[in-house]
Amino acid sequence: MKKLLVIIIITLIIVVVNACKKEGDTLPPFNPTPLTIKLPGNLPVMNIPASNPTTVEGVALGRMLYYDKIMHPNGSMACASCHLQSEGFTKKGTNILPHINLGYGNKFLWNGEIEGTLEDAMIFEVEDFFKTNISKLQNDDTYPLLFYKAFGSTEIDSKKCAYALAQFLRTLVSGNSKFDKYLRHELTLTADELTGLTIFFSERGDCFHCHSLSLMGDGNRHNIGLDSIFNGVNAGYYNVTANPADLGKFKTPSLRNCGIRTSFMHDGRYTKLDEVIEHYNSKVKNSASLDPVLTKPGKAYGLNLTNSEKEKLKAFLLTLTDTVYLSDTAFASPF
Ligand code: HEC
Ligand code: HEC
Repeated sequence: MKKLLVIIIITLIIVVVNACKKEGDTLPPFNPTPLTIKLPGNLPVMNIPASNPTTVEGVALGRMLYYDKIMHPNGSMACASCHLQSEGFTKKGTNILPHINLGYGNKFLWNGEIEGTLEDAMIFEVEDFFKTNISKLQNDDTYPLLFYKAFGSTEIDSKKCAYALAQFLRTLVSGNSKFDKYLRHELTLTADELTGLTIFFSERGDCFHCHSLSLMGDGNRHNIGLDSIFNGVNAGYYNVTANPADLGKFKTPSLRNCGIRTSFMHDGRYTKLDEVIEHYNSKVKNSASLDPVLTKPGKAYGLNLTNSEKEKLKAFLLTLTDTVYLSDTAFASPF
C-alpha cells in the first residue's frame, strides 16, 4: 500500500514538473502585433483606450470567442447565434441590437443603460449576460496559448475575454454603403435618393438631428413619441434613473443597414420602414419627455410628408445598406 502511494506521488511529481517545463519551453516571446483599424475617409477618428490597444492577436482571439459556444456555460450559443453577420450582426424579426461601428459608442443597450467604453459593455456581456464559465476556456487545449499571445499570460479571466471581444468588435466598421461612396464622391445618387437625402438632412424631415453623420445615429437617448403612457420596458432610461424626464428615452440606433431589417425600435413594434416613416410623419405621441425636435413650431400635426416624399425618404434610407460589411470575410466565423 505504502509502495503504491510512493509510486503515485513520484508519478504526479514527474507529470507536474514536465507540464511546467513544457509550458516554459514552448511559450514564444510575448510580442503582439499592433493593428491599425482601417477607417473609410468619411468616418470620424475612433478613440481607443490606452489600456486595450488593438492587436492582430487580440482581434483574432476576440473573433474566436465571438463565434465559439464555449463562451456560454451550457454551450448552447455564441454571440454570433443572435448577432448574425449576414443580417447586419442582428437577427431579422427581433430587437437584437446590430453590431455596427460600436467602437464609436459610449452608451450601450437600447436604453443606453451601460455607459463607458466597449470594454465596459463587454464585461457586462461576459459576466452578467452570458455568465461565461472561465474554467472551460482555461481547460481548453488552444485558448490559454491564444490568451498568452494576446495579453501575455495564460491565466484567463473575464476581463481578458471582454478586452479581446472589444478589440474584435472595434474592427466591425461599416463605411461602404452607397451613401458613404456618395459622400466620398465615388458615385452619384438617383434623383429620388437625393430628394430623400434633402428631406432627411433638412428641417423638412429633421432626421439628421439625431441620426447624424457619419454614423447615422448620435448614440444619445431621446423620446421619439412612440408612447404617451409608459409601461415596463417602454419606459426606457427611466427604468435606470427613475427620473420622469427619462421616460421613453432610448439610444438613437444607427440607420446603417436599416434597409435589410424587418423589426424596428426597442421592442420591434414596426416591421417595415414605411411604418417607421409614418410614425414620424403622423403618429408621434406627446408627453412631457418628448424630444423638442419633434415638437418644433409647425410640427404639431407631424411632418405632413406627401406619399412621394415618403417614398423618396425611404429610397434614401436604402442607400445606407453596406453589403461589403455584410460579407466581409474578416468578420466571419474563423471556424
Ligand atoms: C440570445 C441572443 C443574444 C446573444 C446570444 C447575444 N446577444 Fe448581444 N444583444 C442581444 C439583444 C436582445 C440586445 C439588445 C438588448 C437590450 O438593449 O436590452 C443585445 C445587445 C448587445 C450589445 C449592445 C449594442 C448596442 O448598440 O448598444 C452588445 C455590444 C452585444 N449585444 C454584444 C454581445 C456579445 C459580445 C455577445 C456574446 C458574449 C452577445 N451579445 C450575445 C441578444 C443577444
Ligand atoms: C429626436 C431624435 C430623433 C429624430 C429627430 C429622429 N429619430 Fe429615428 N430614432 C431615434 C431613436 C431614439 C430611435 C429608437 C427609438 C426606440 O427604439 O424607442 C430611432 C429609431 C429609428 C428607426 C428604427 C431603427 C431600428 O434599427 O430599429 C428608424 C428607421 C429611424 N429612427 C428613422 C428616422 C427618420 C427617417 C427620421 C426623420 C423623419 C428620424 N428617425 C428622426 C431618434 C430620432
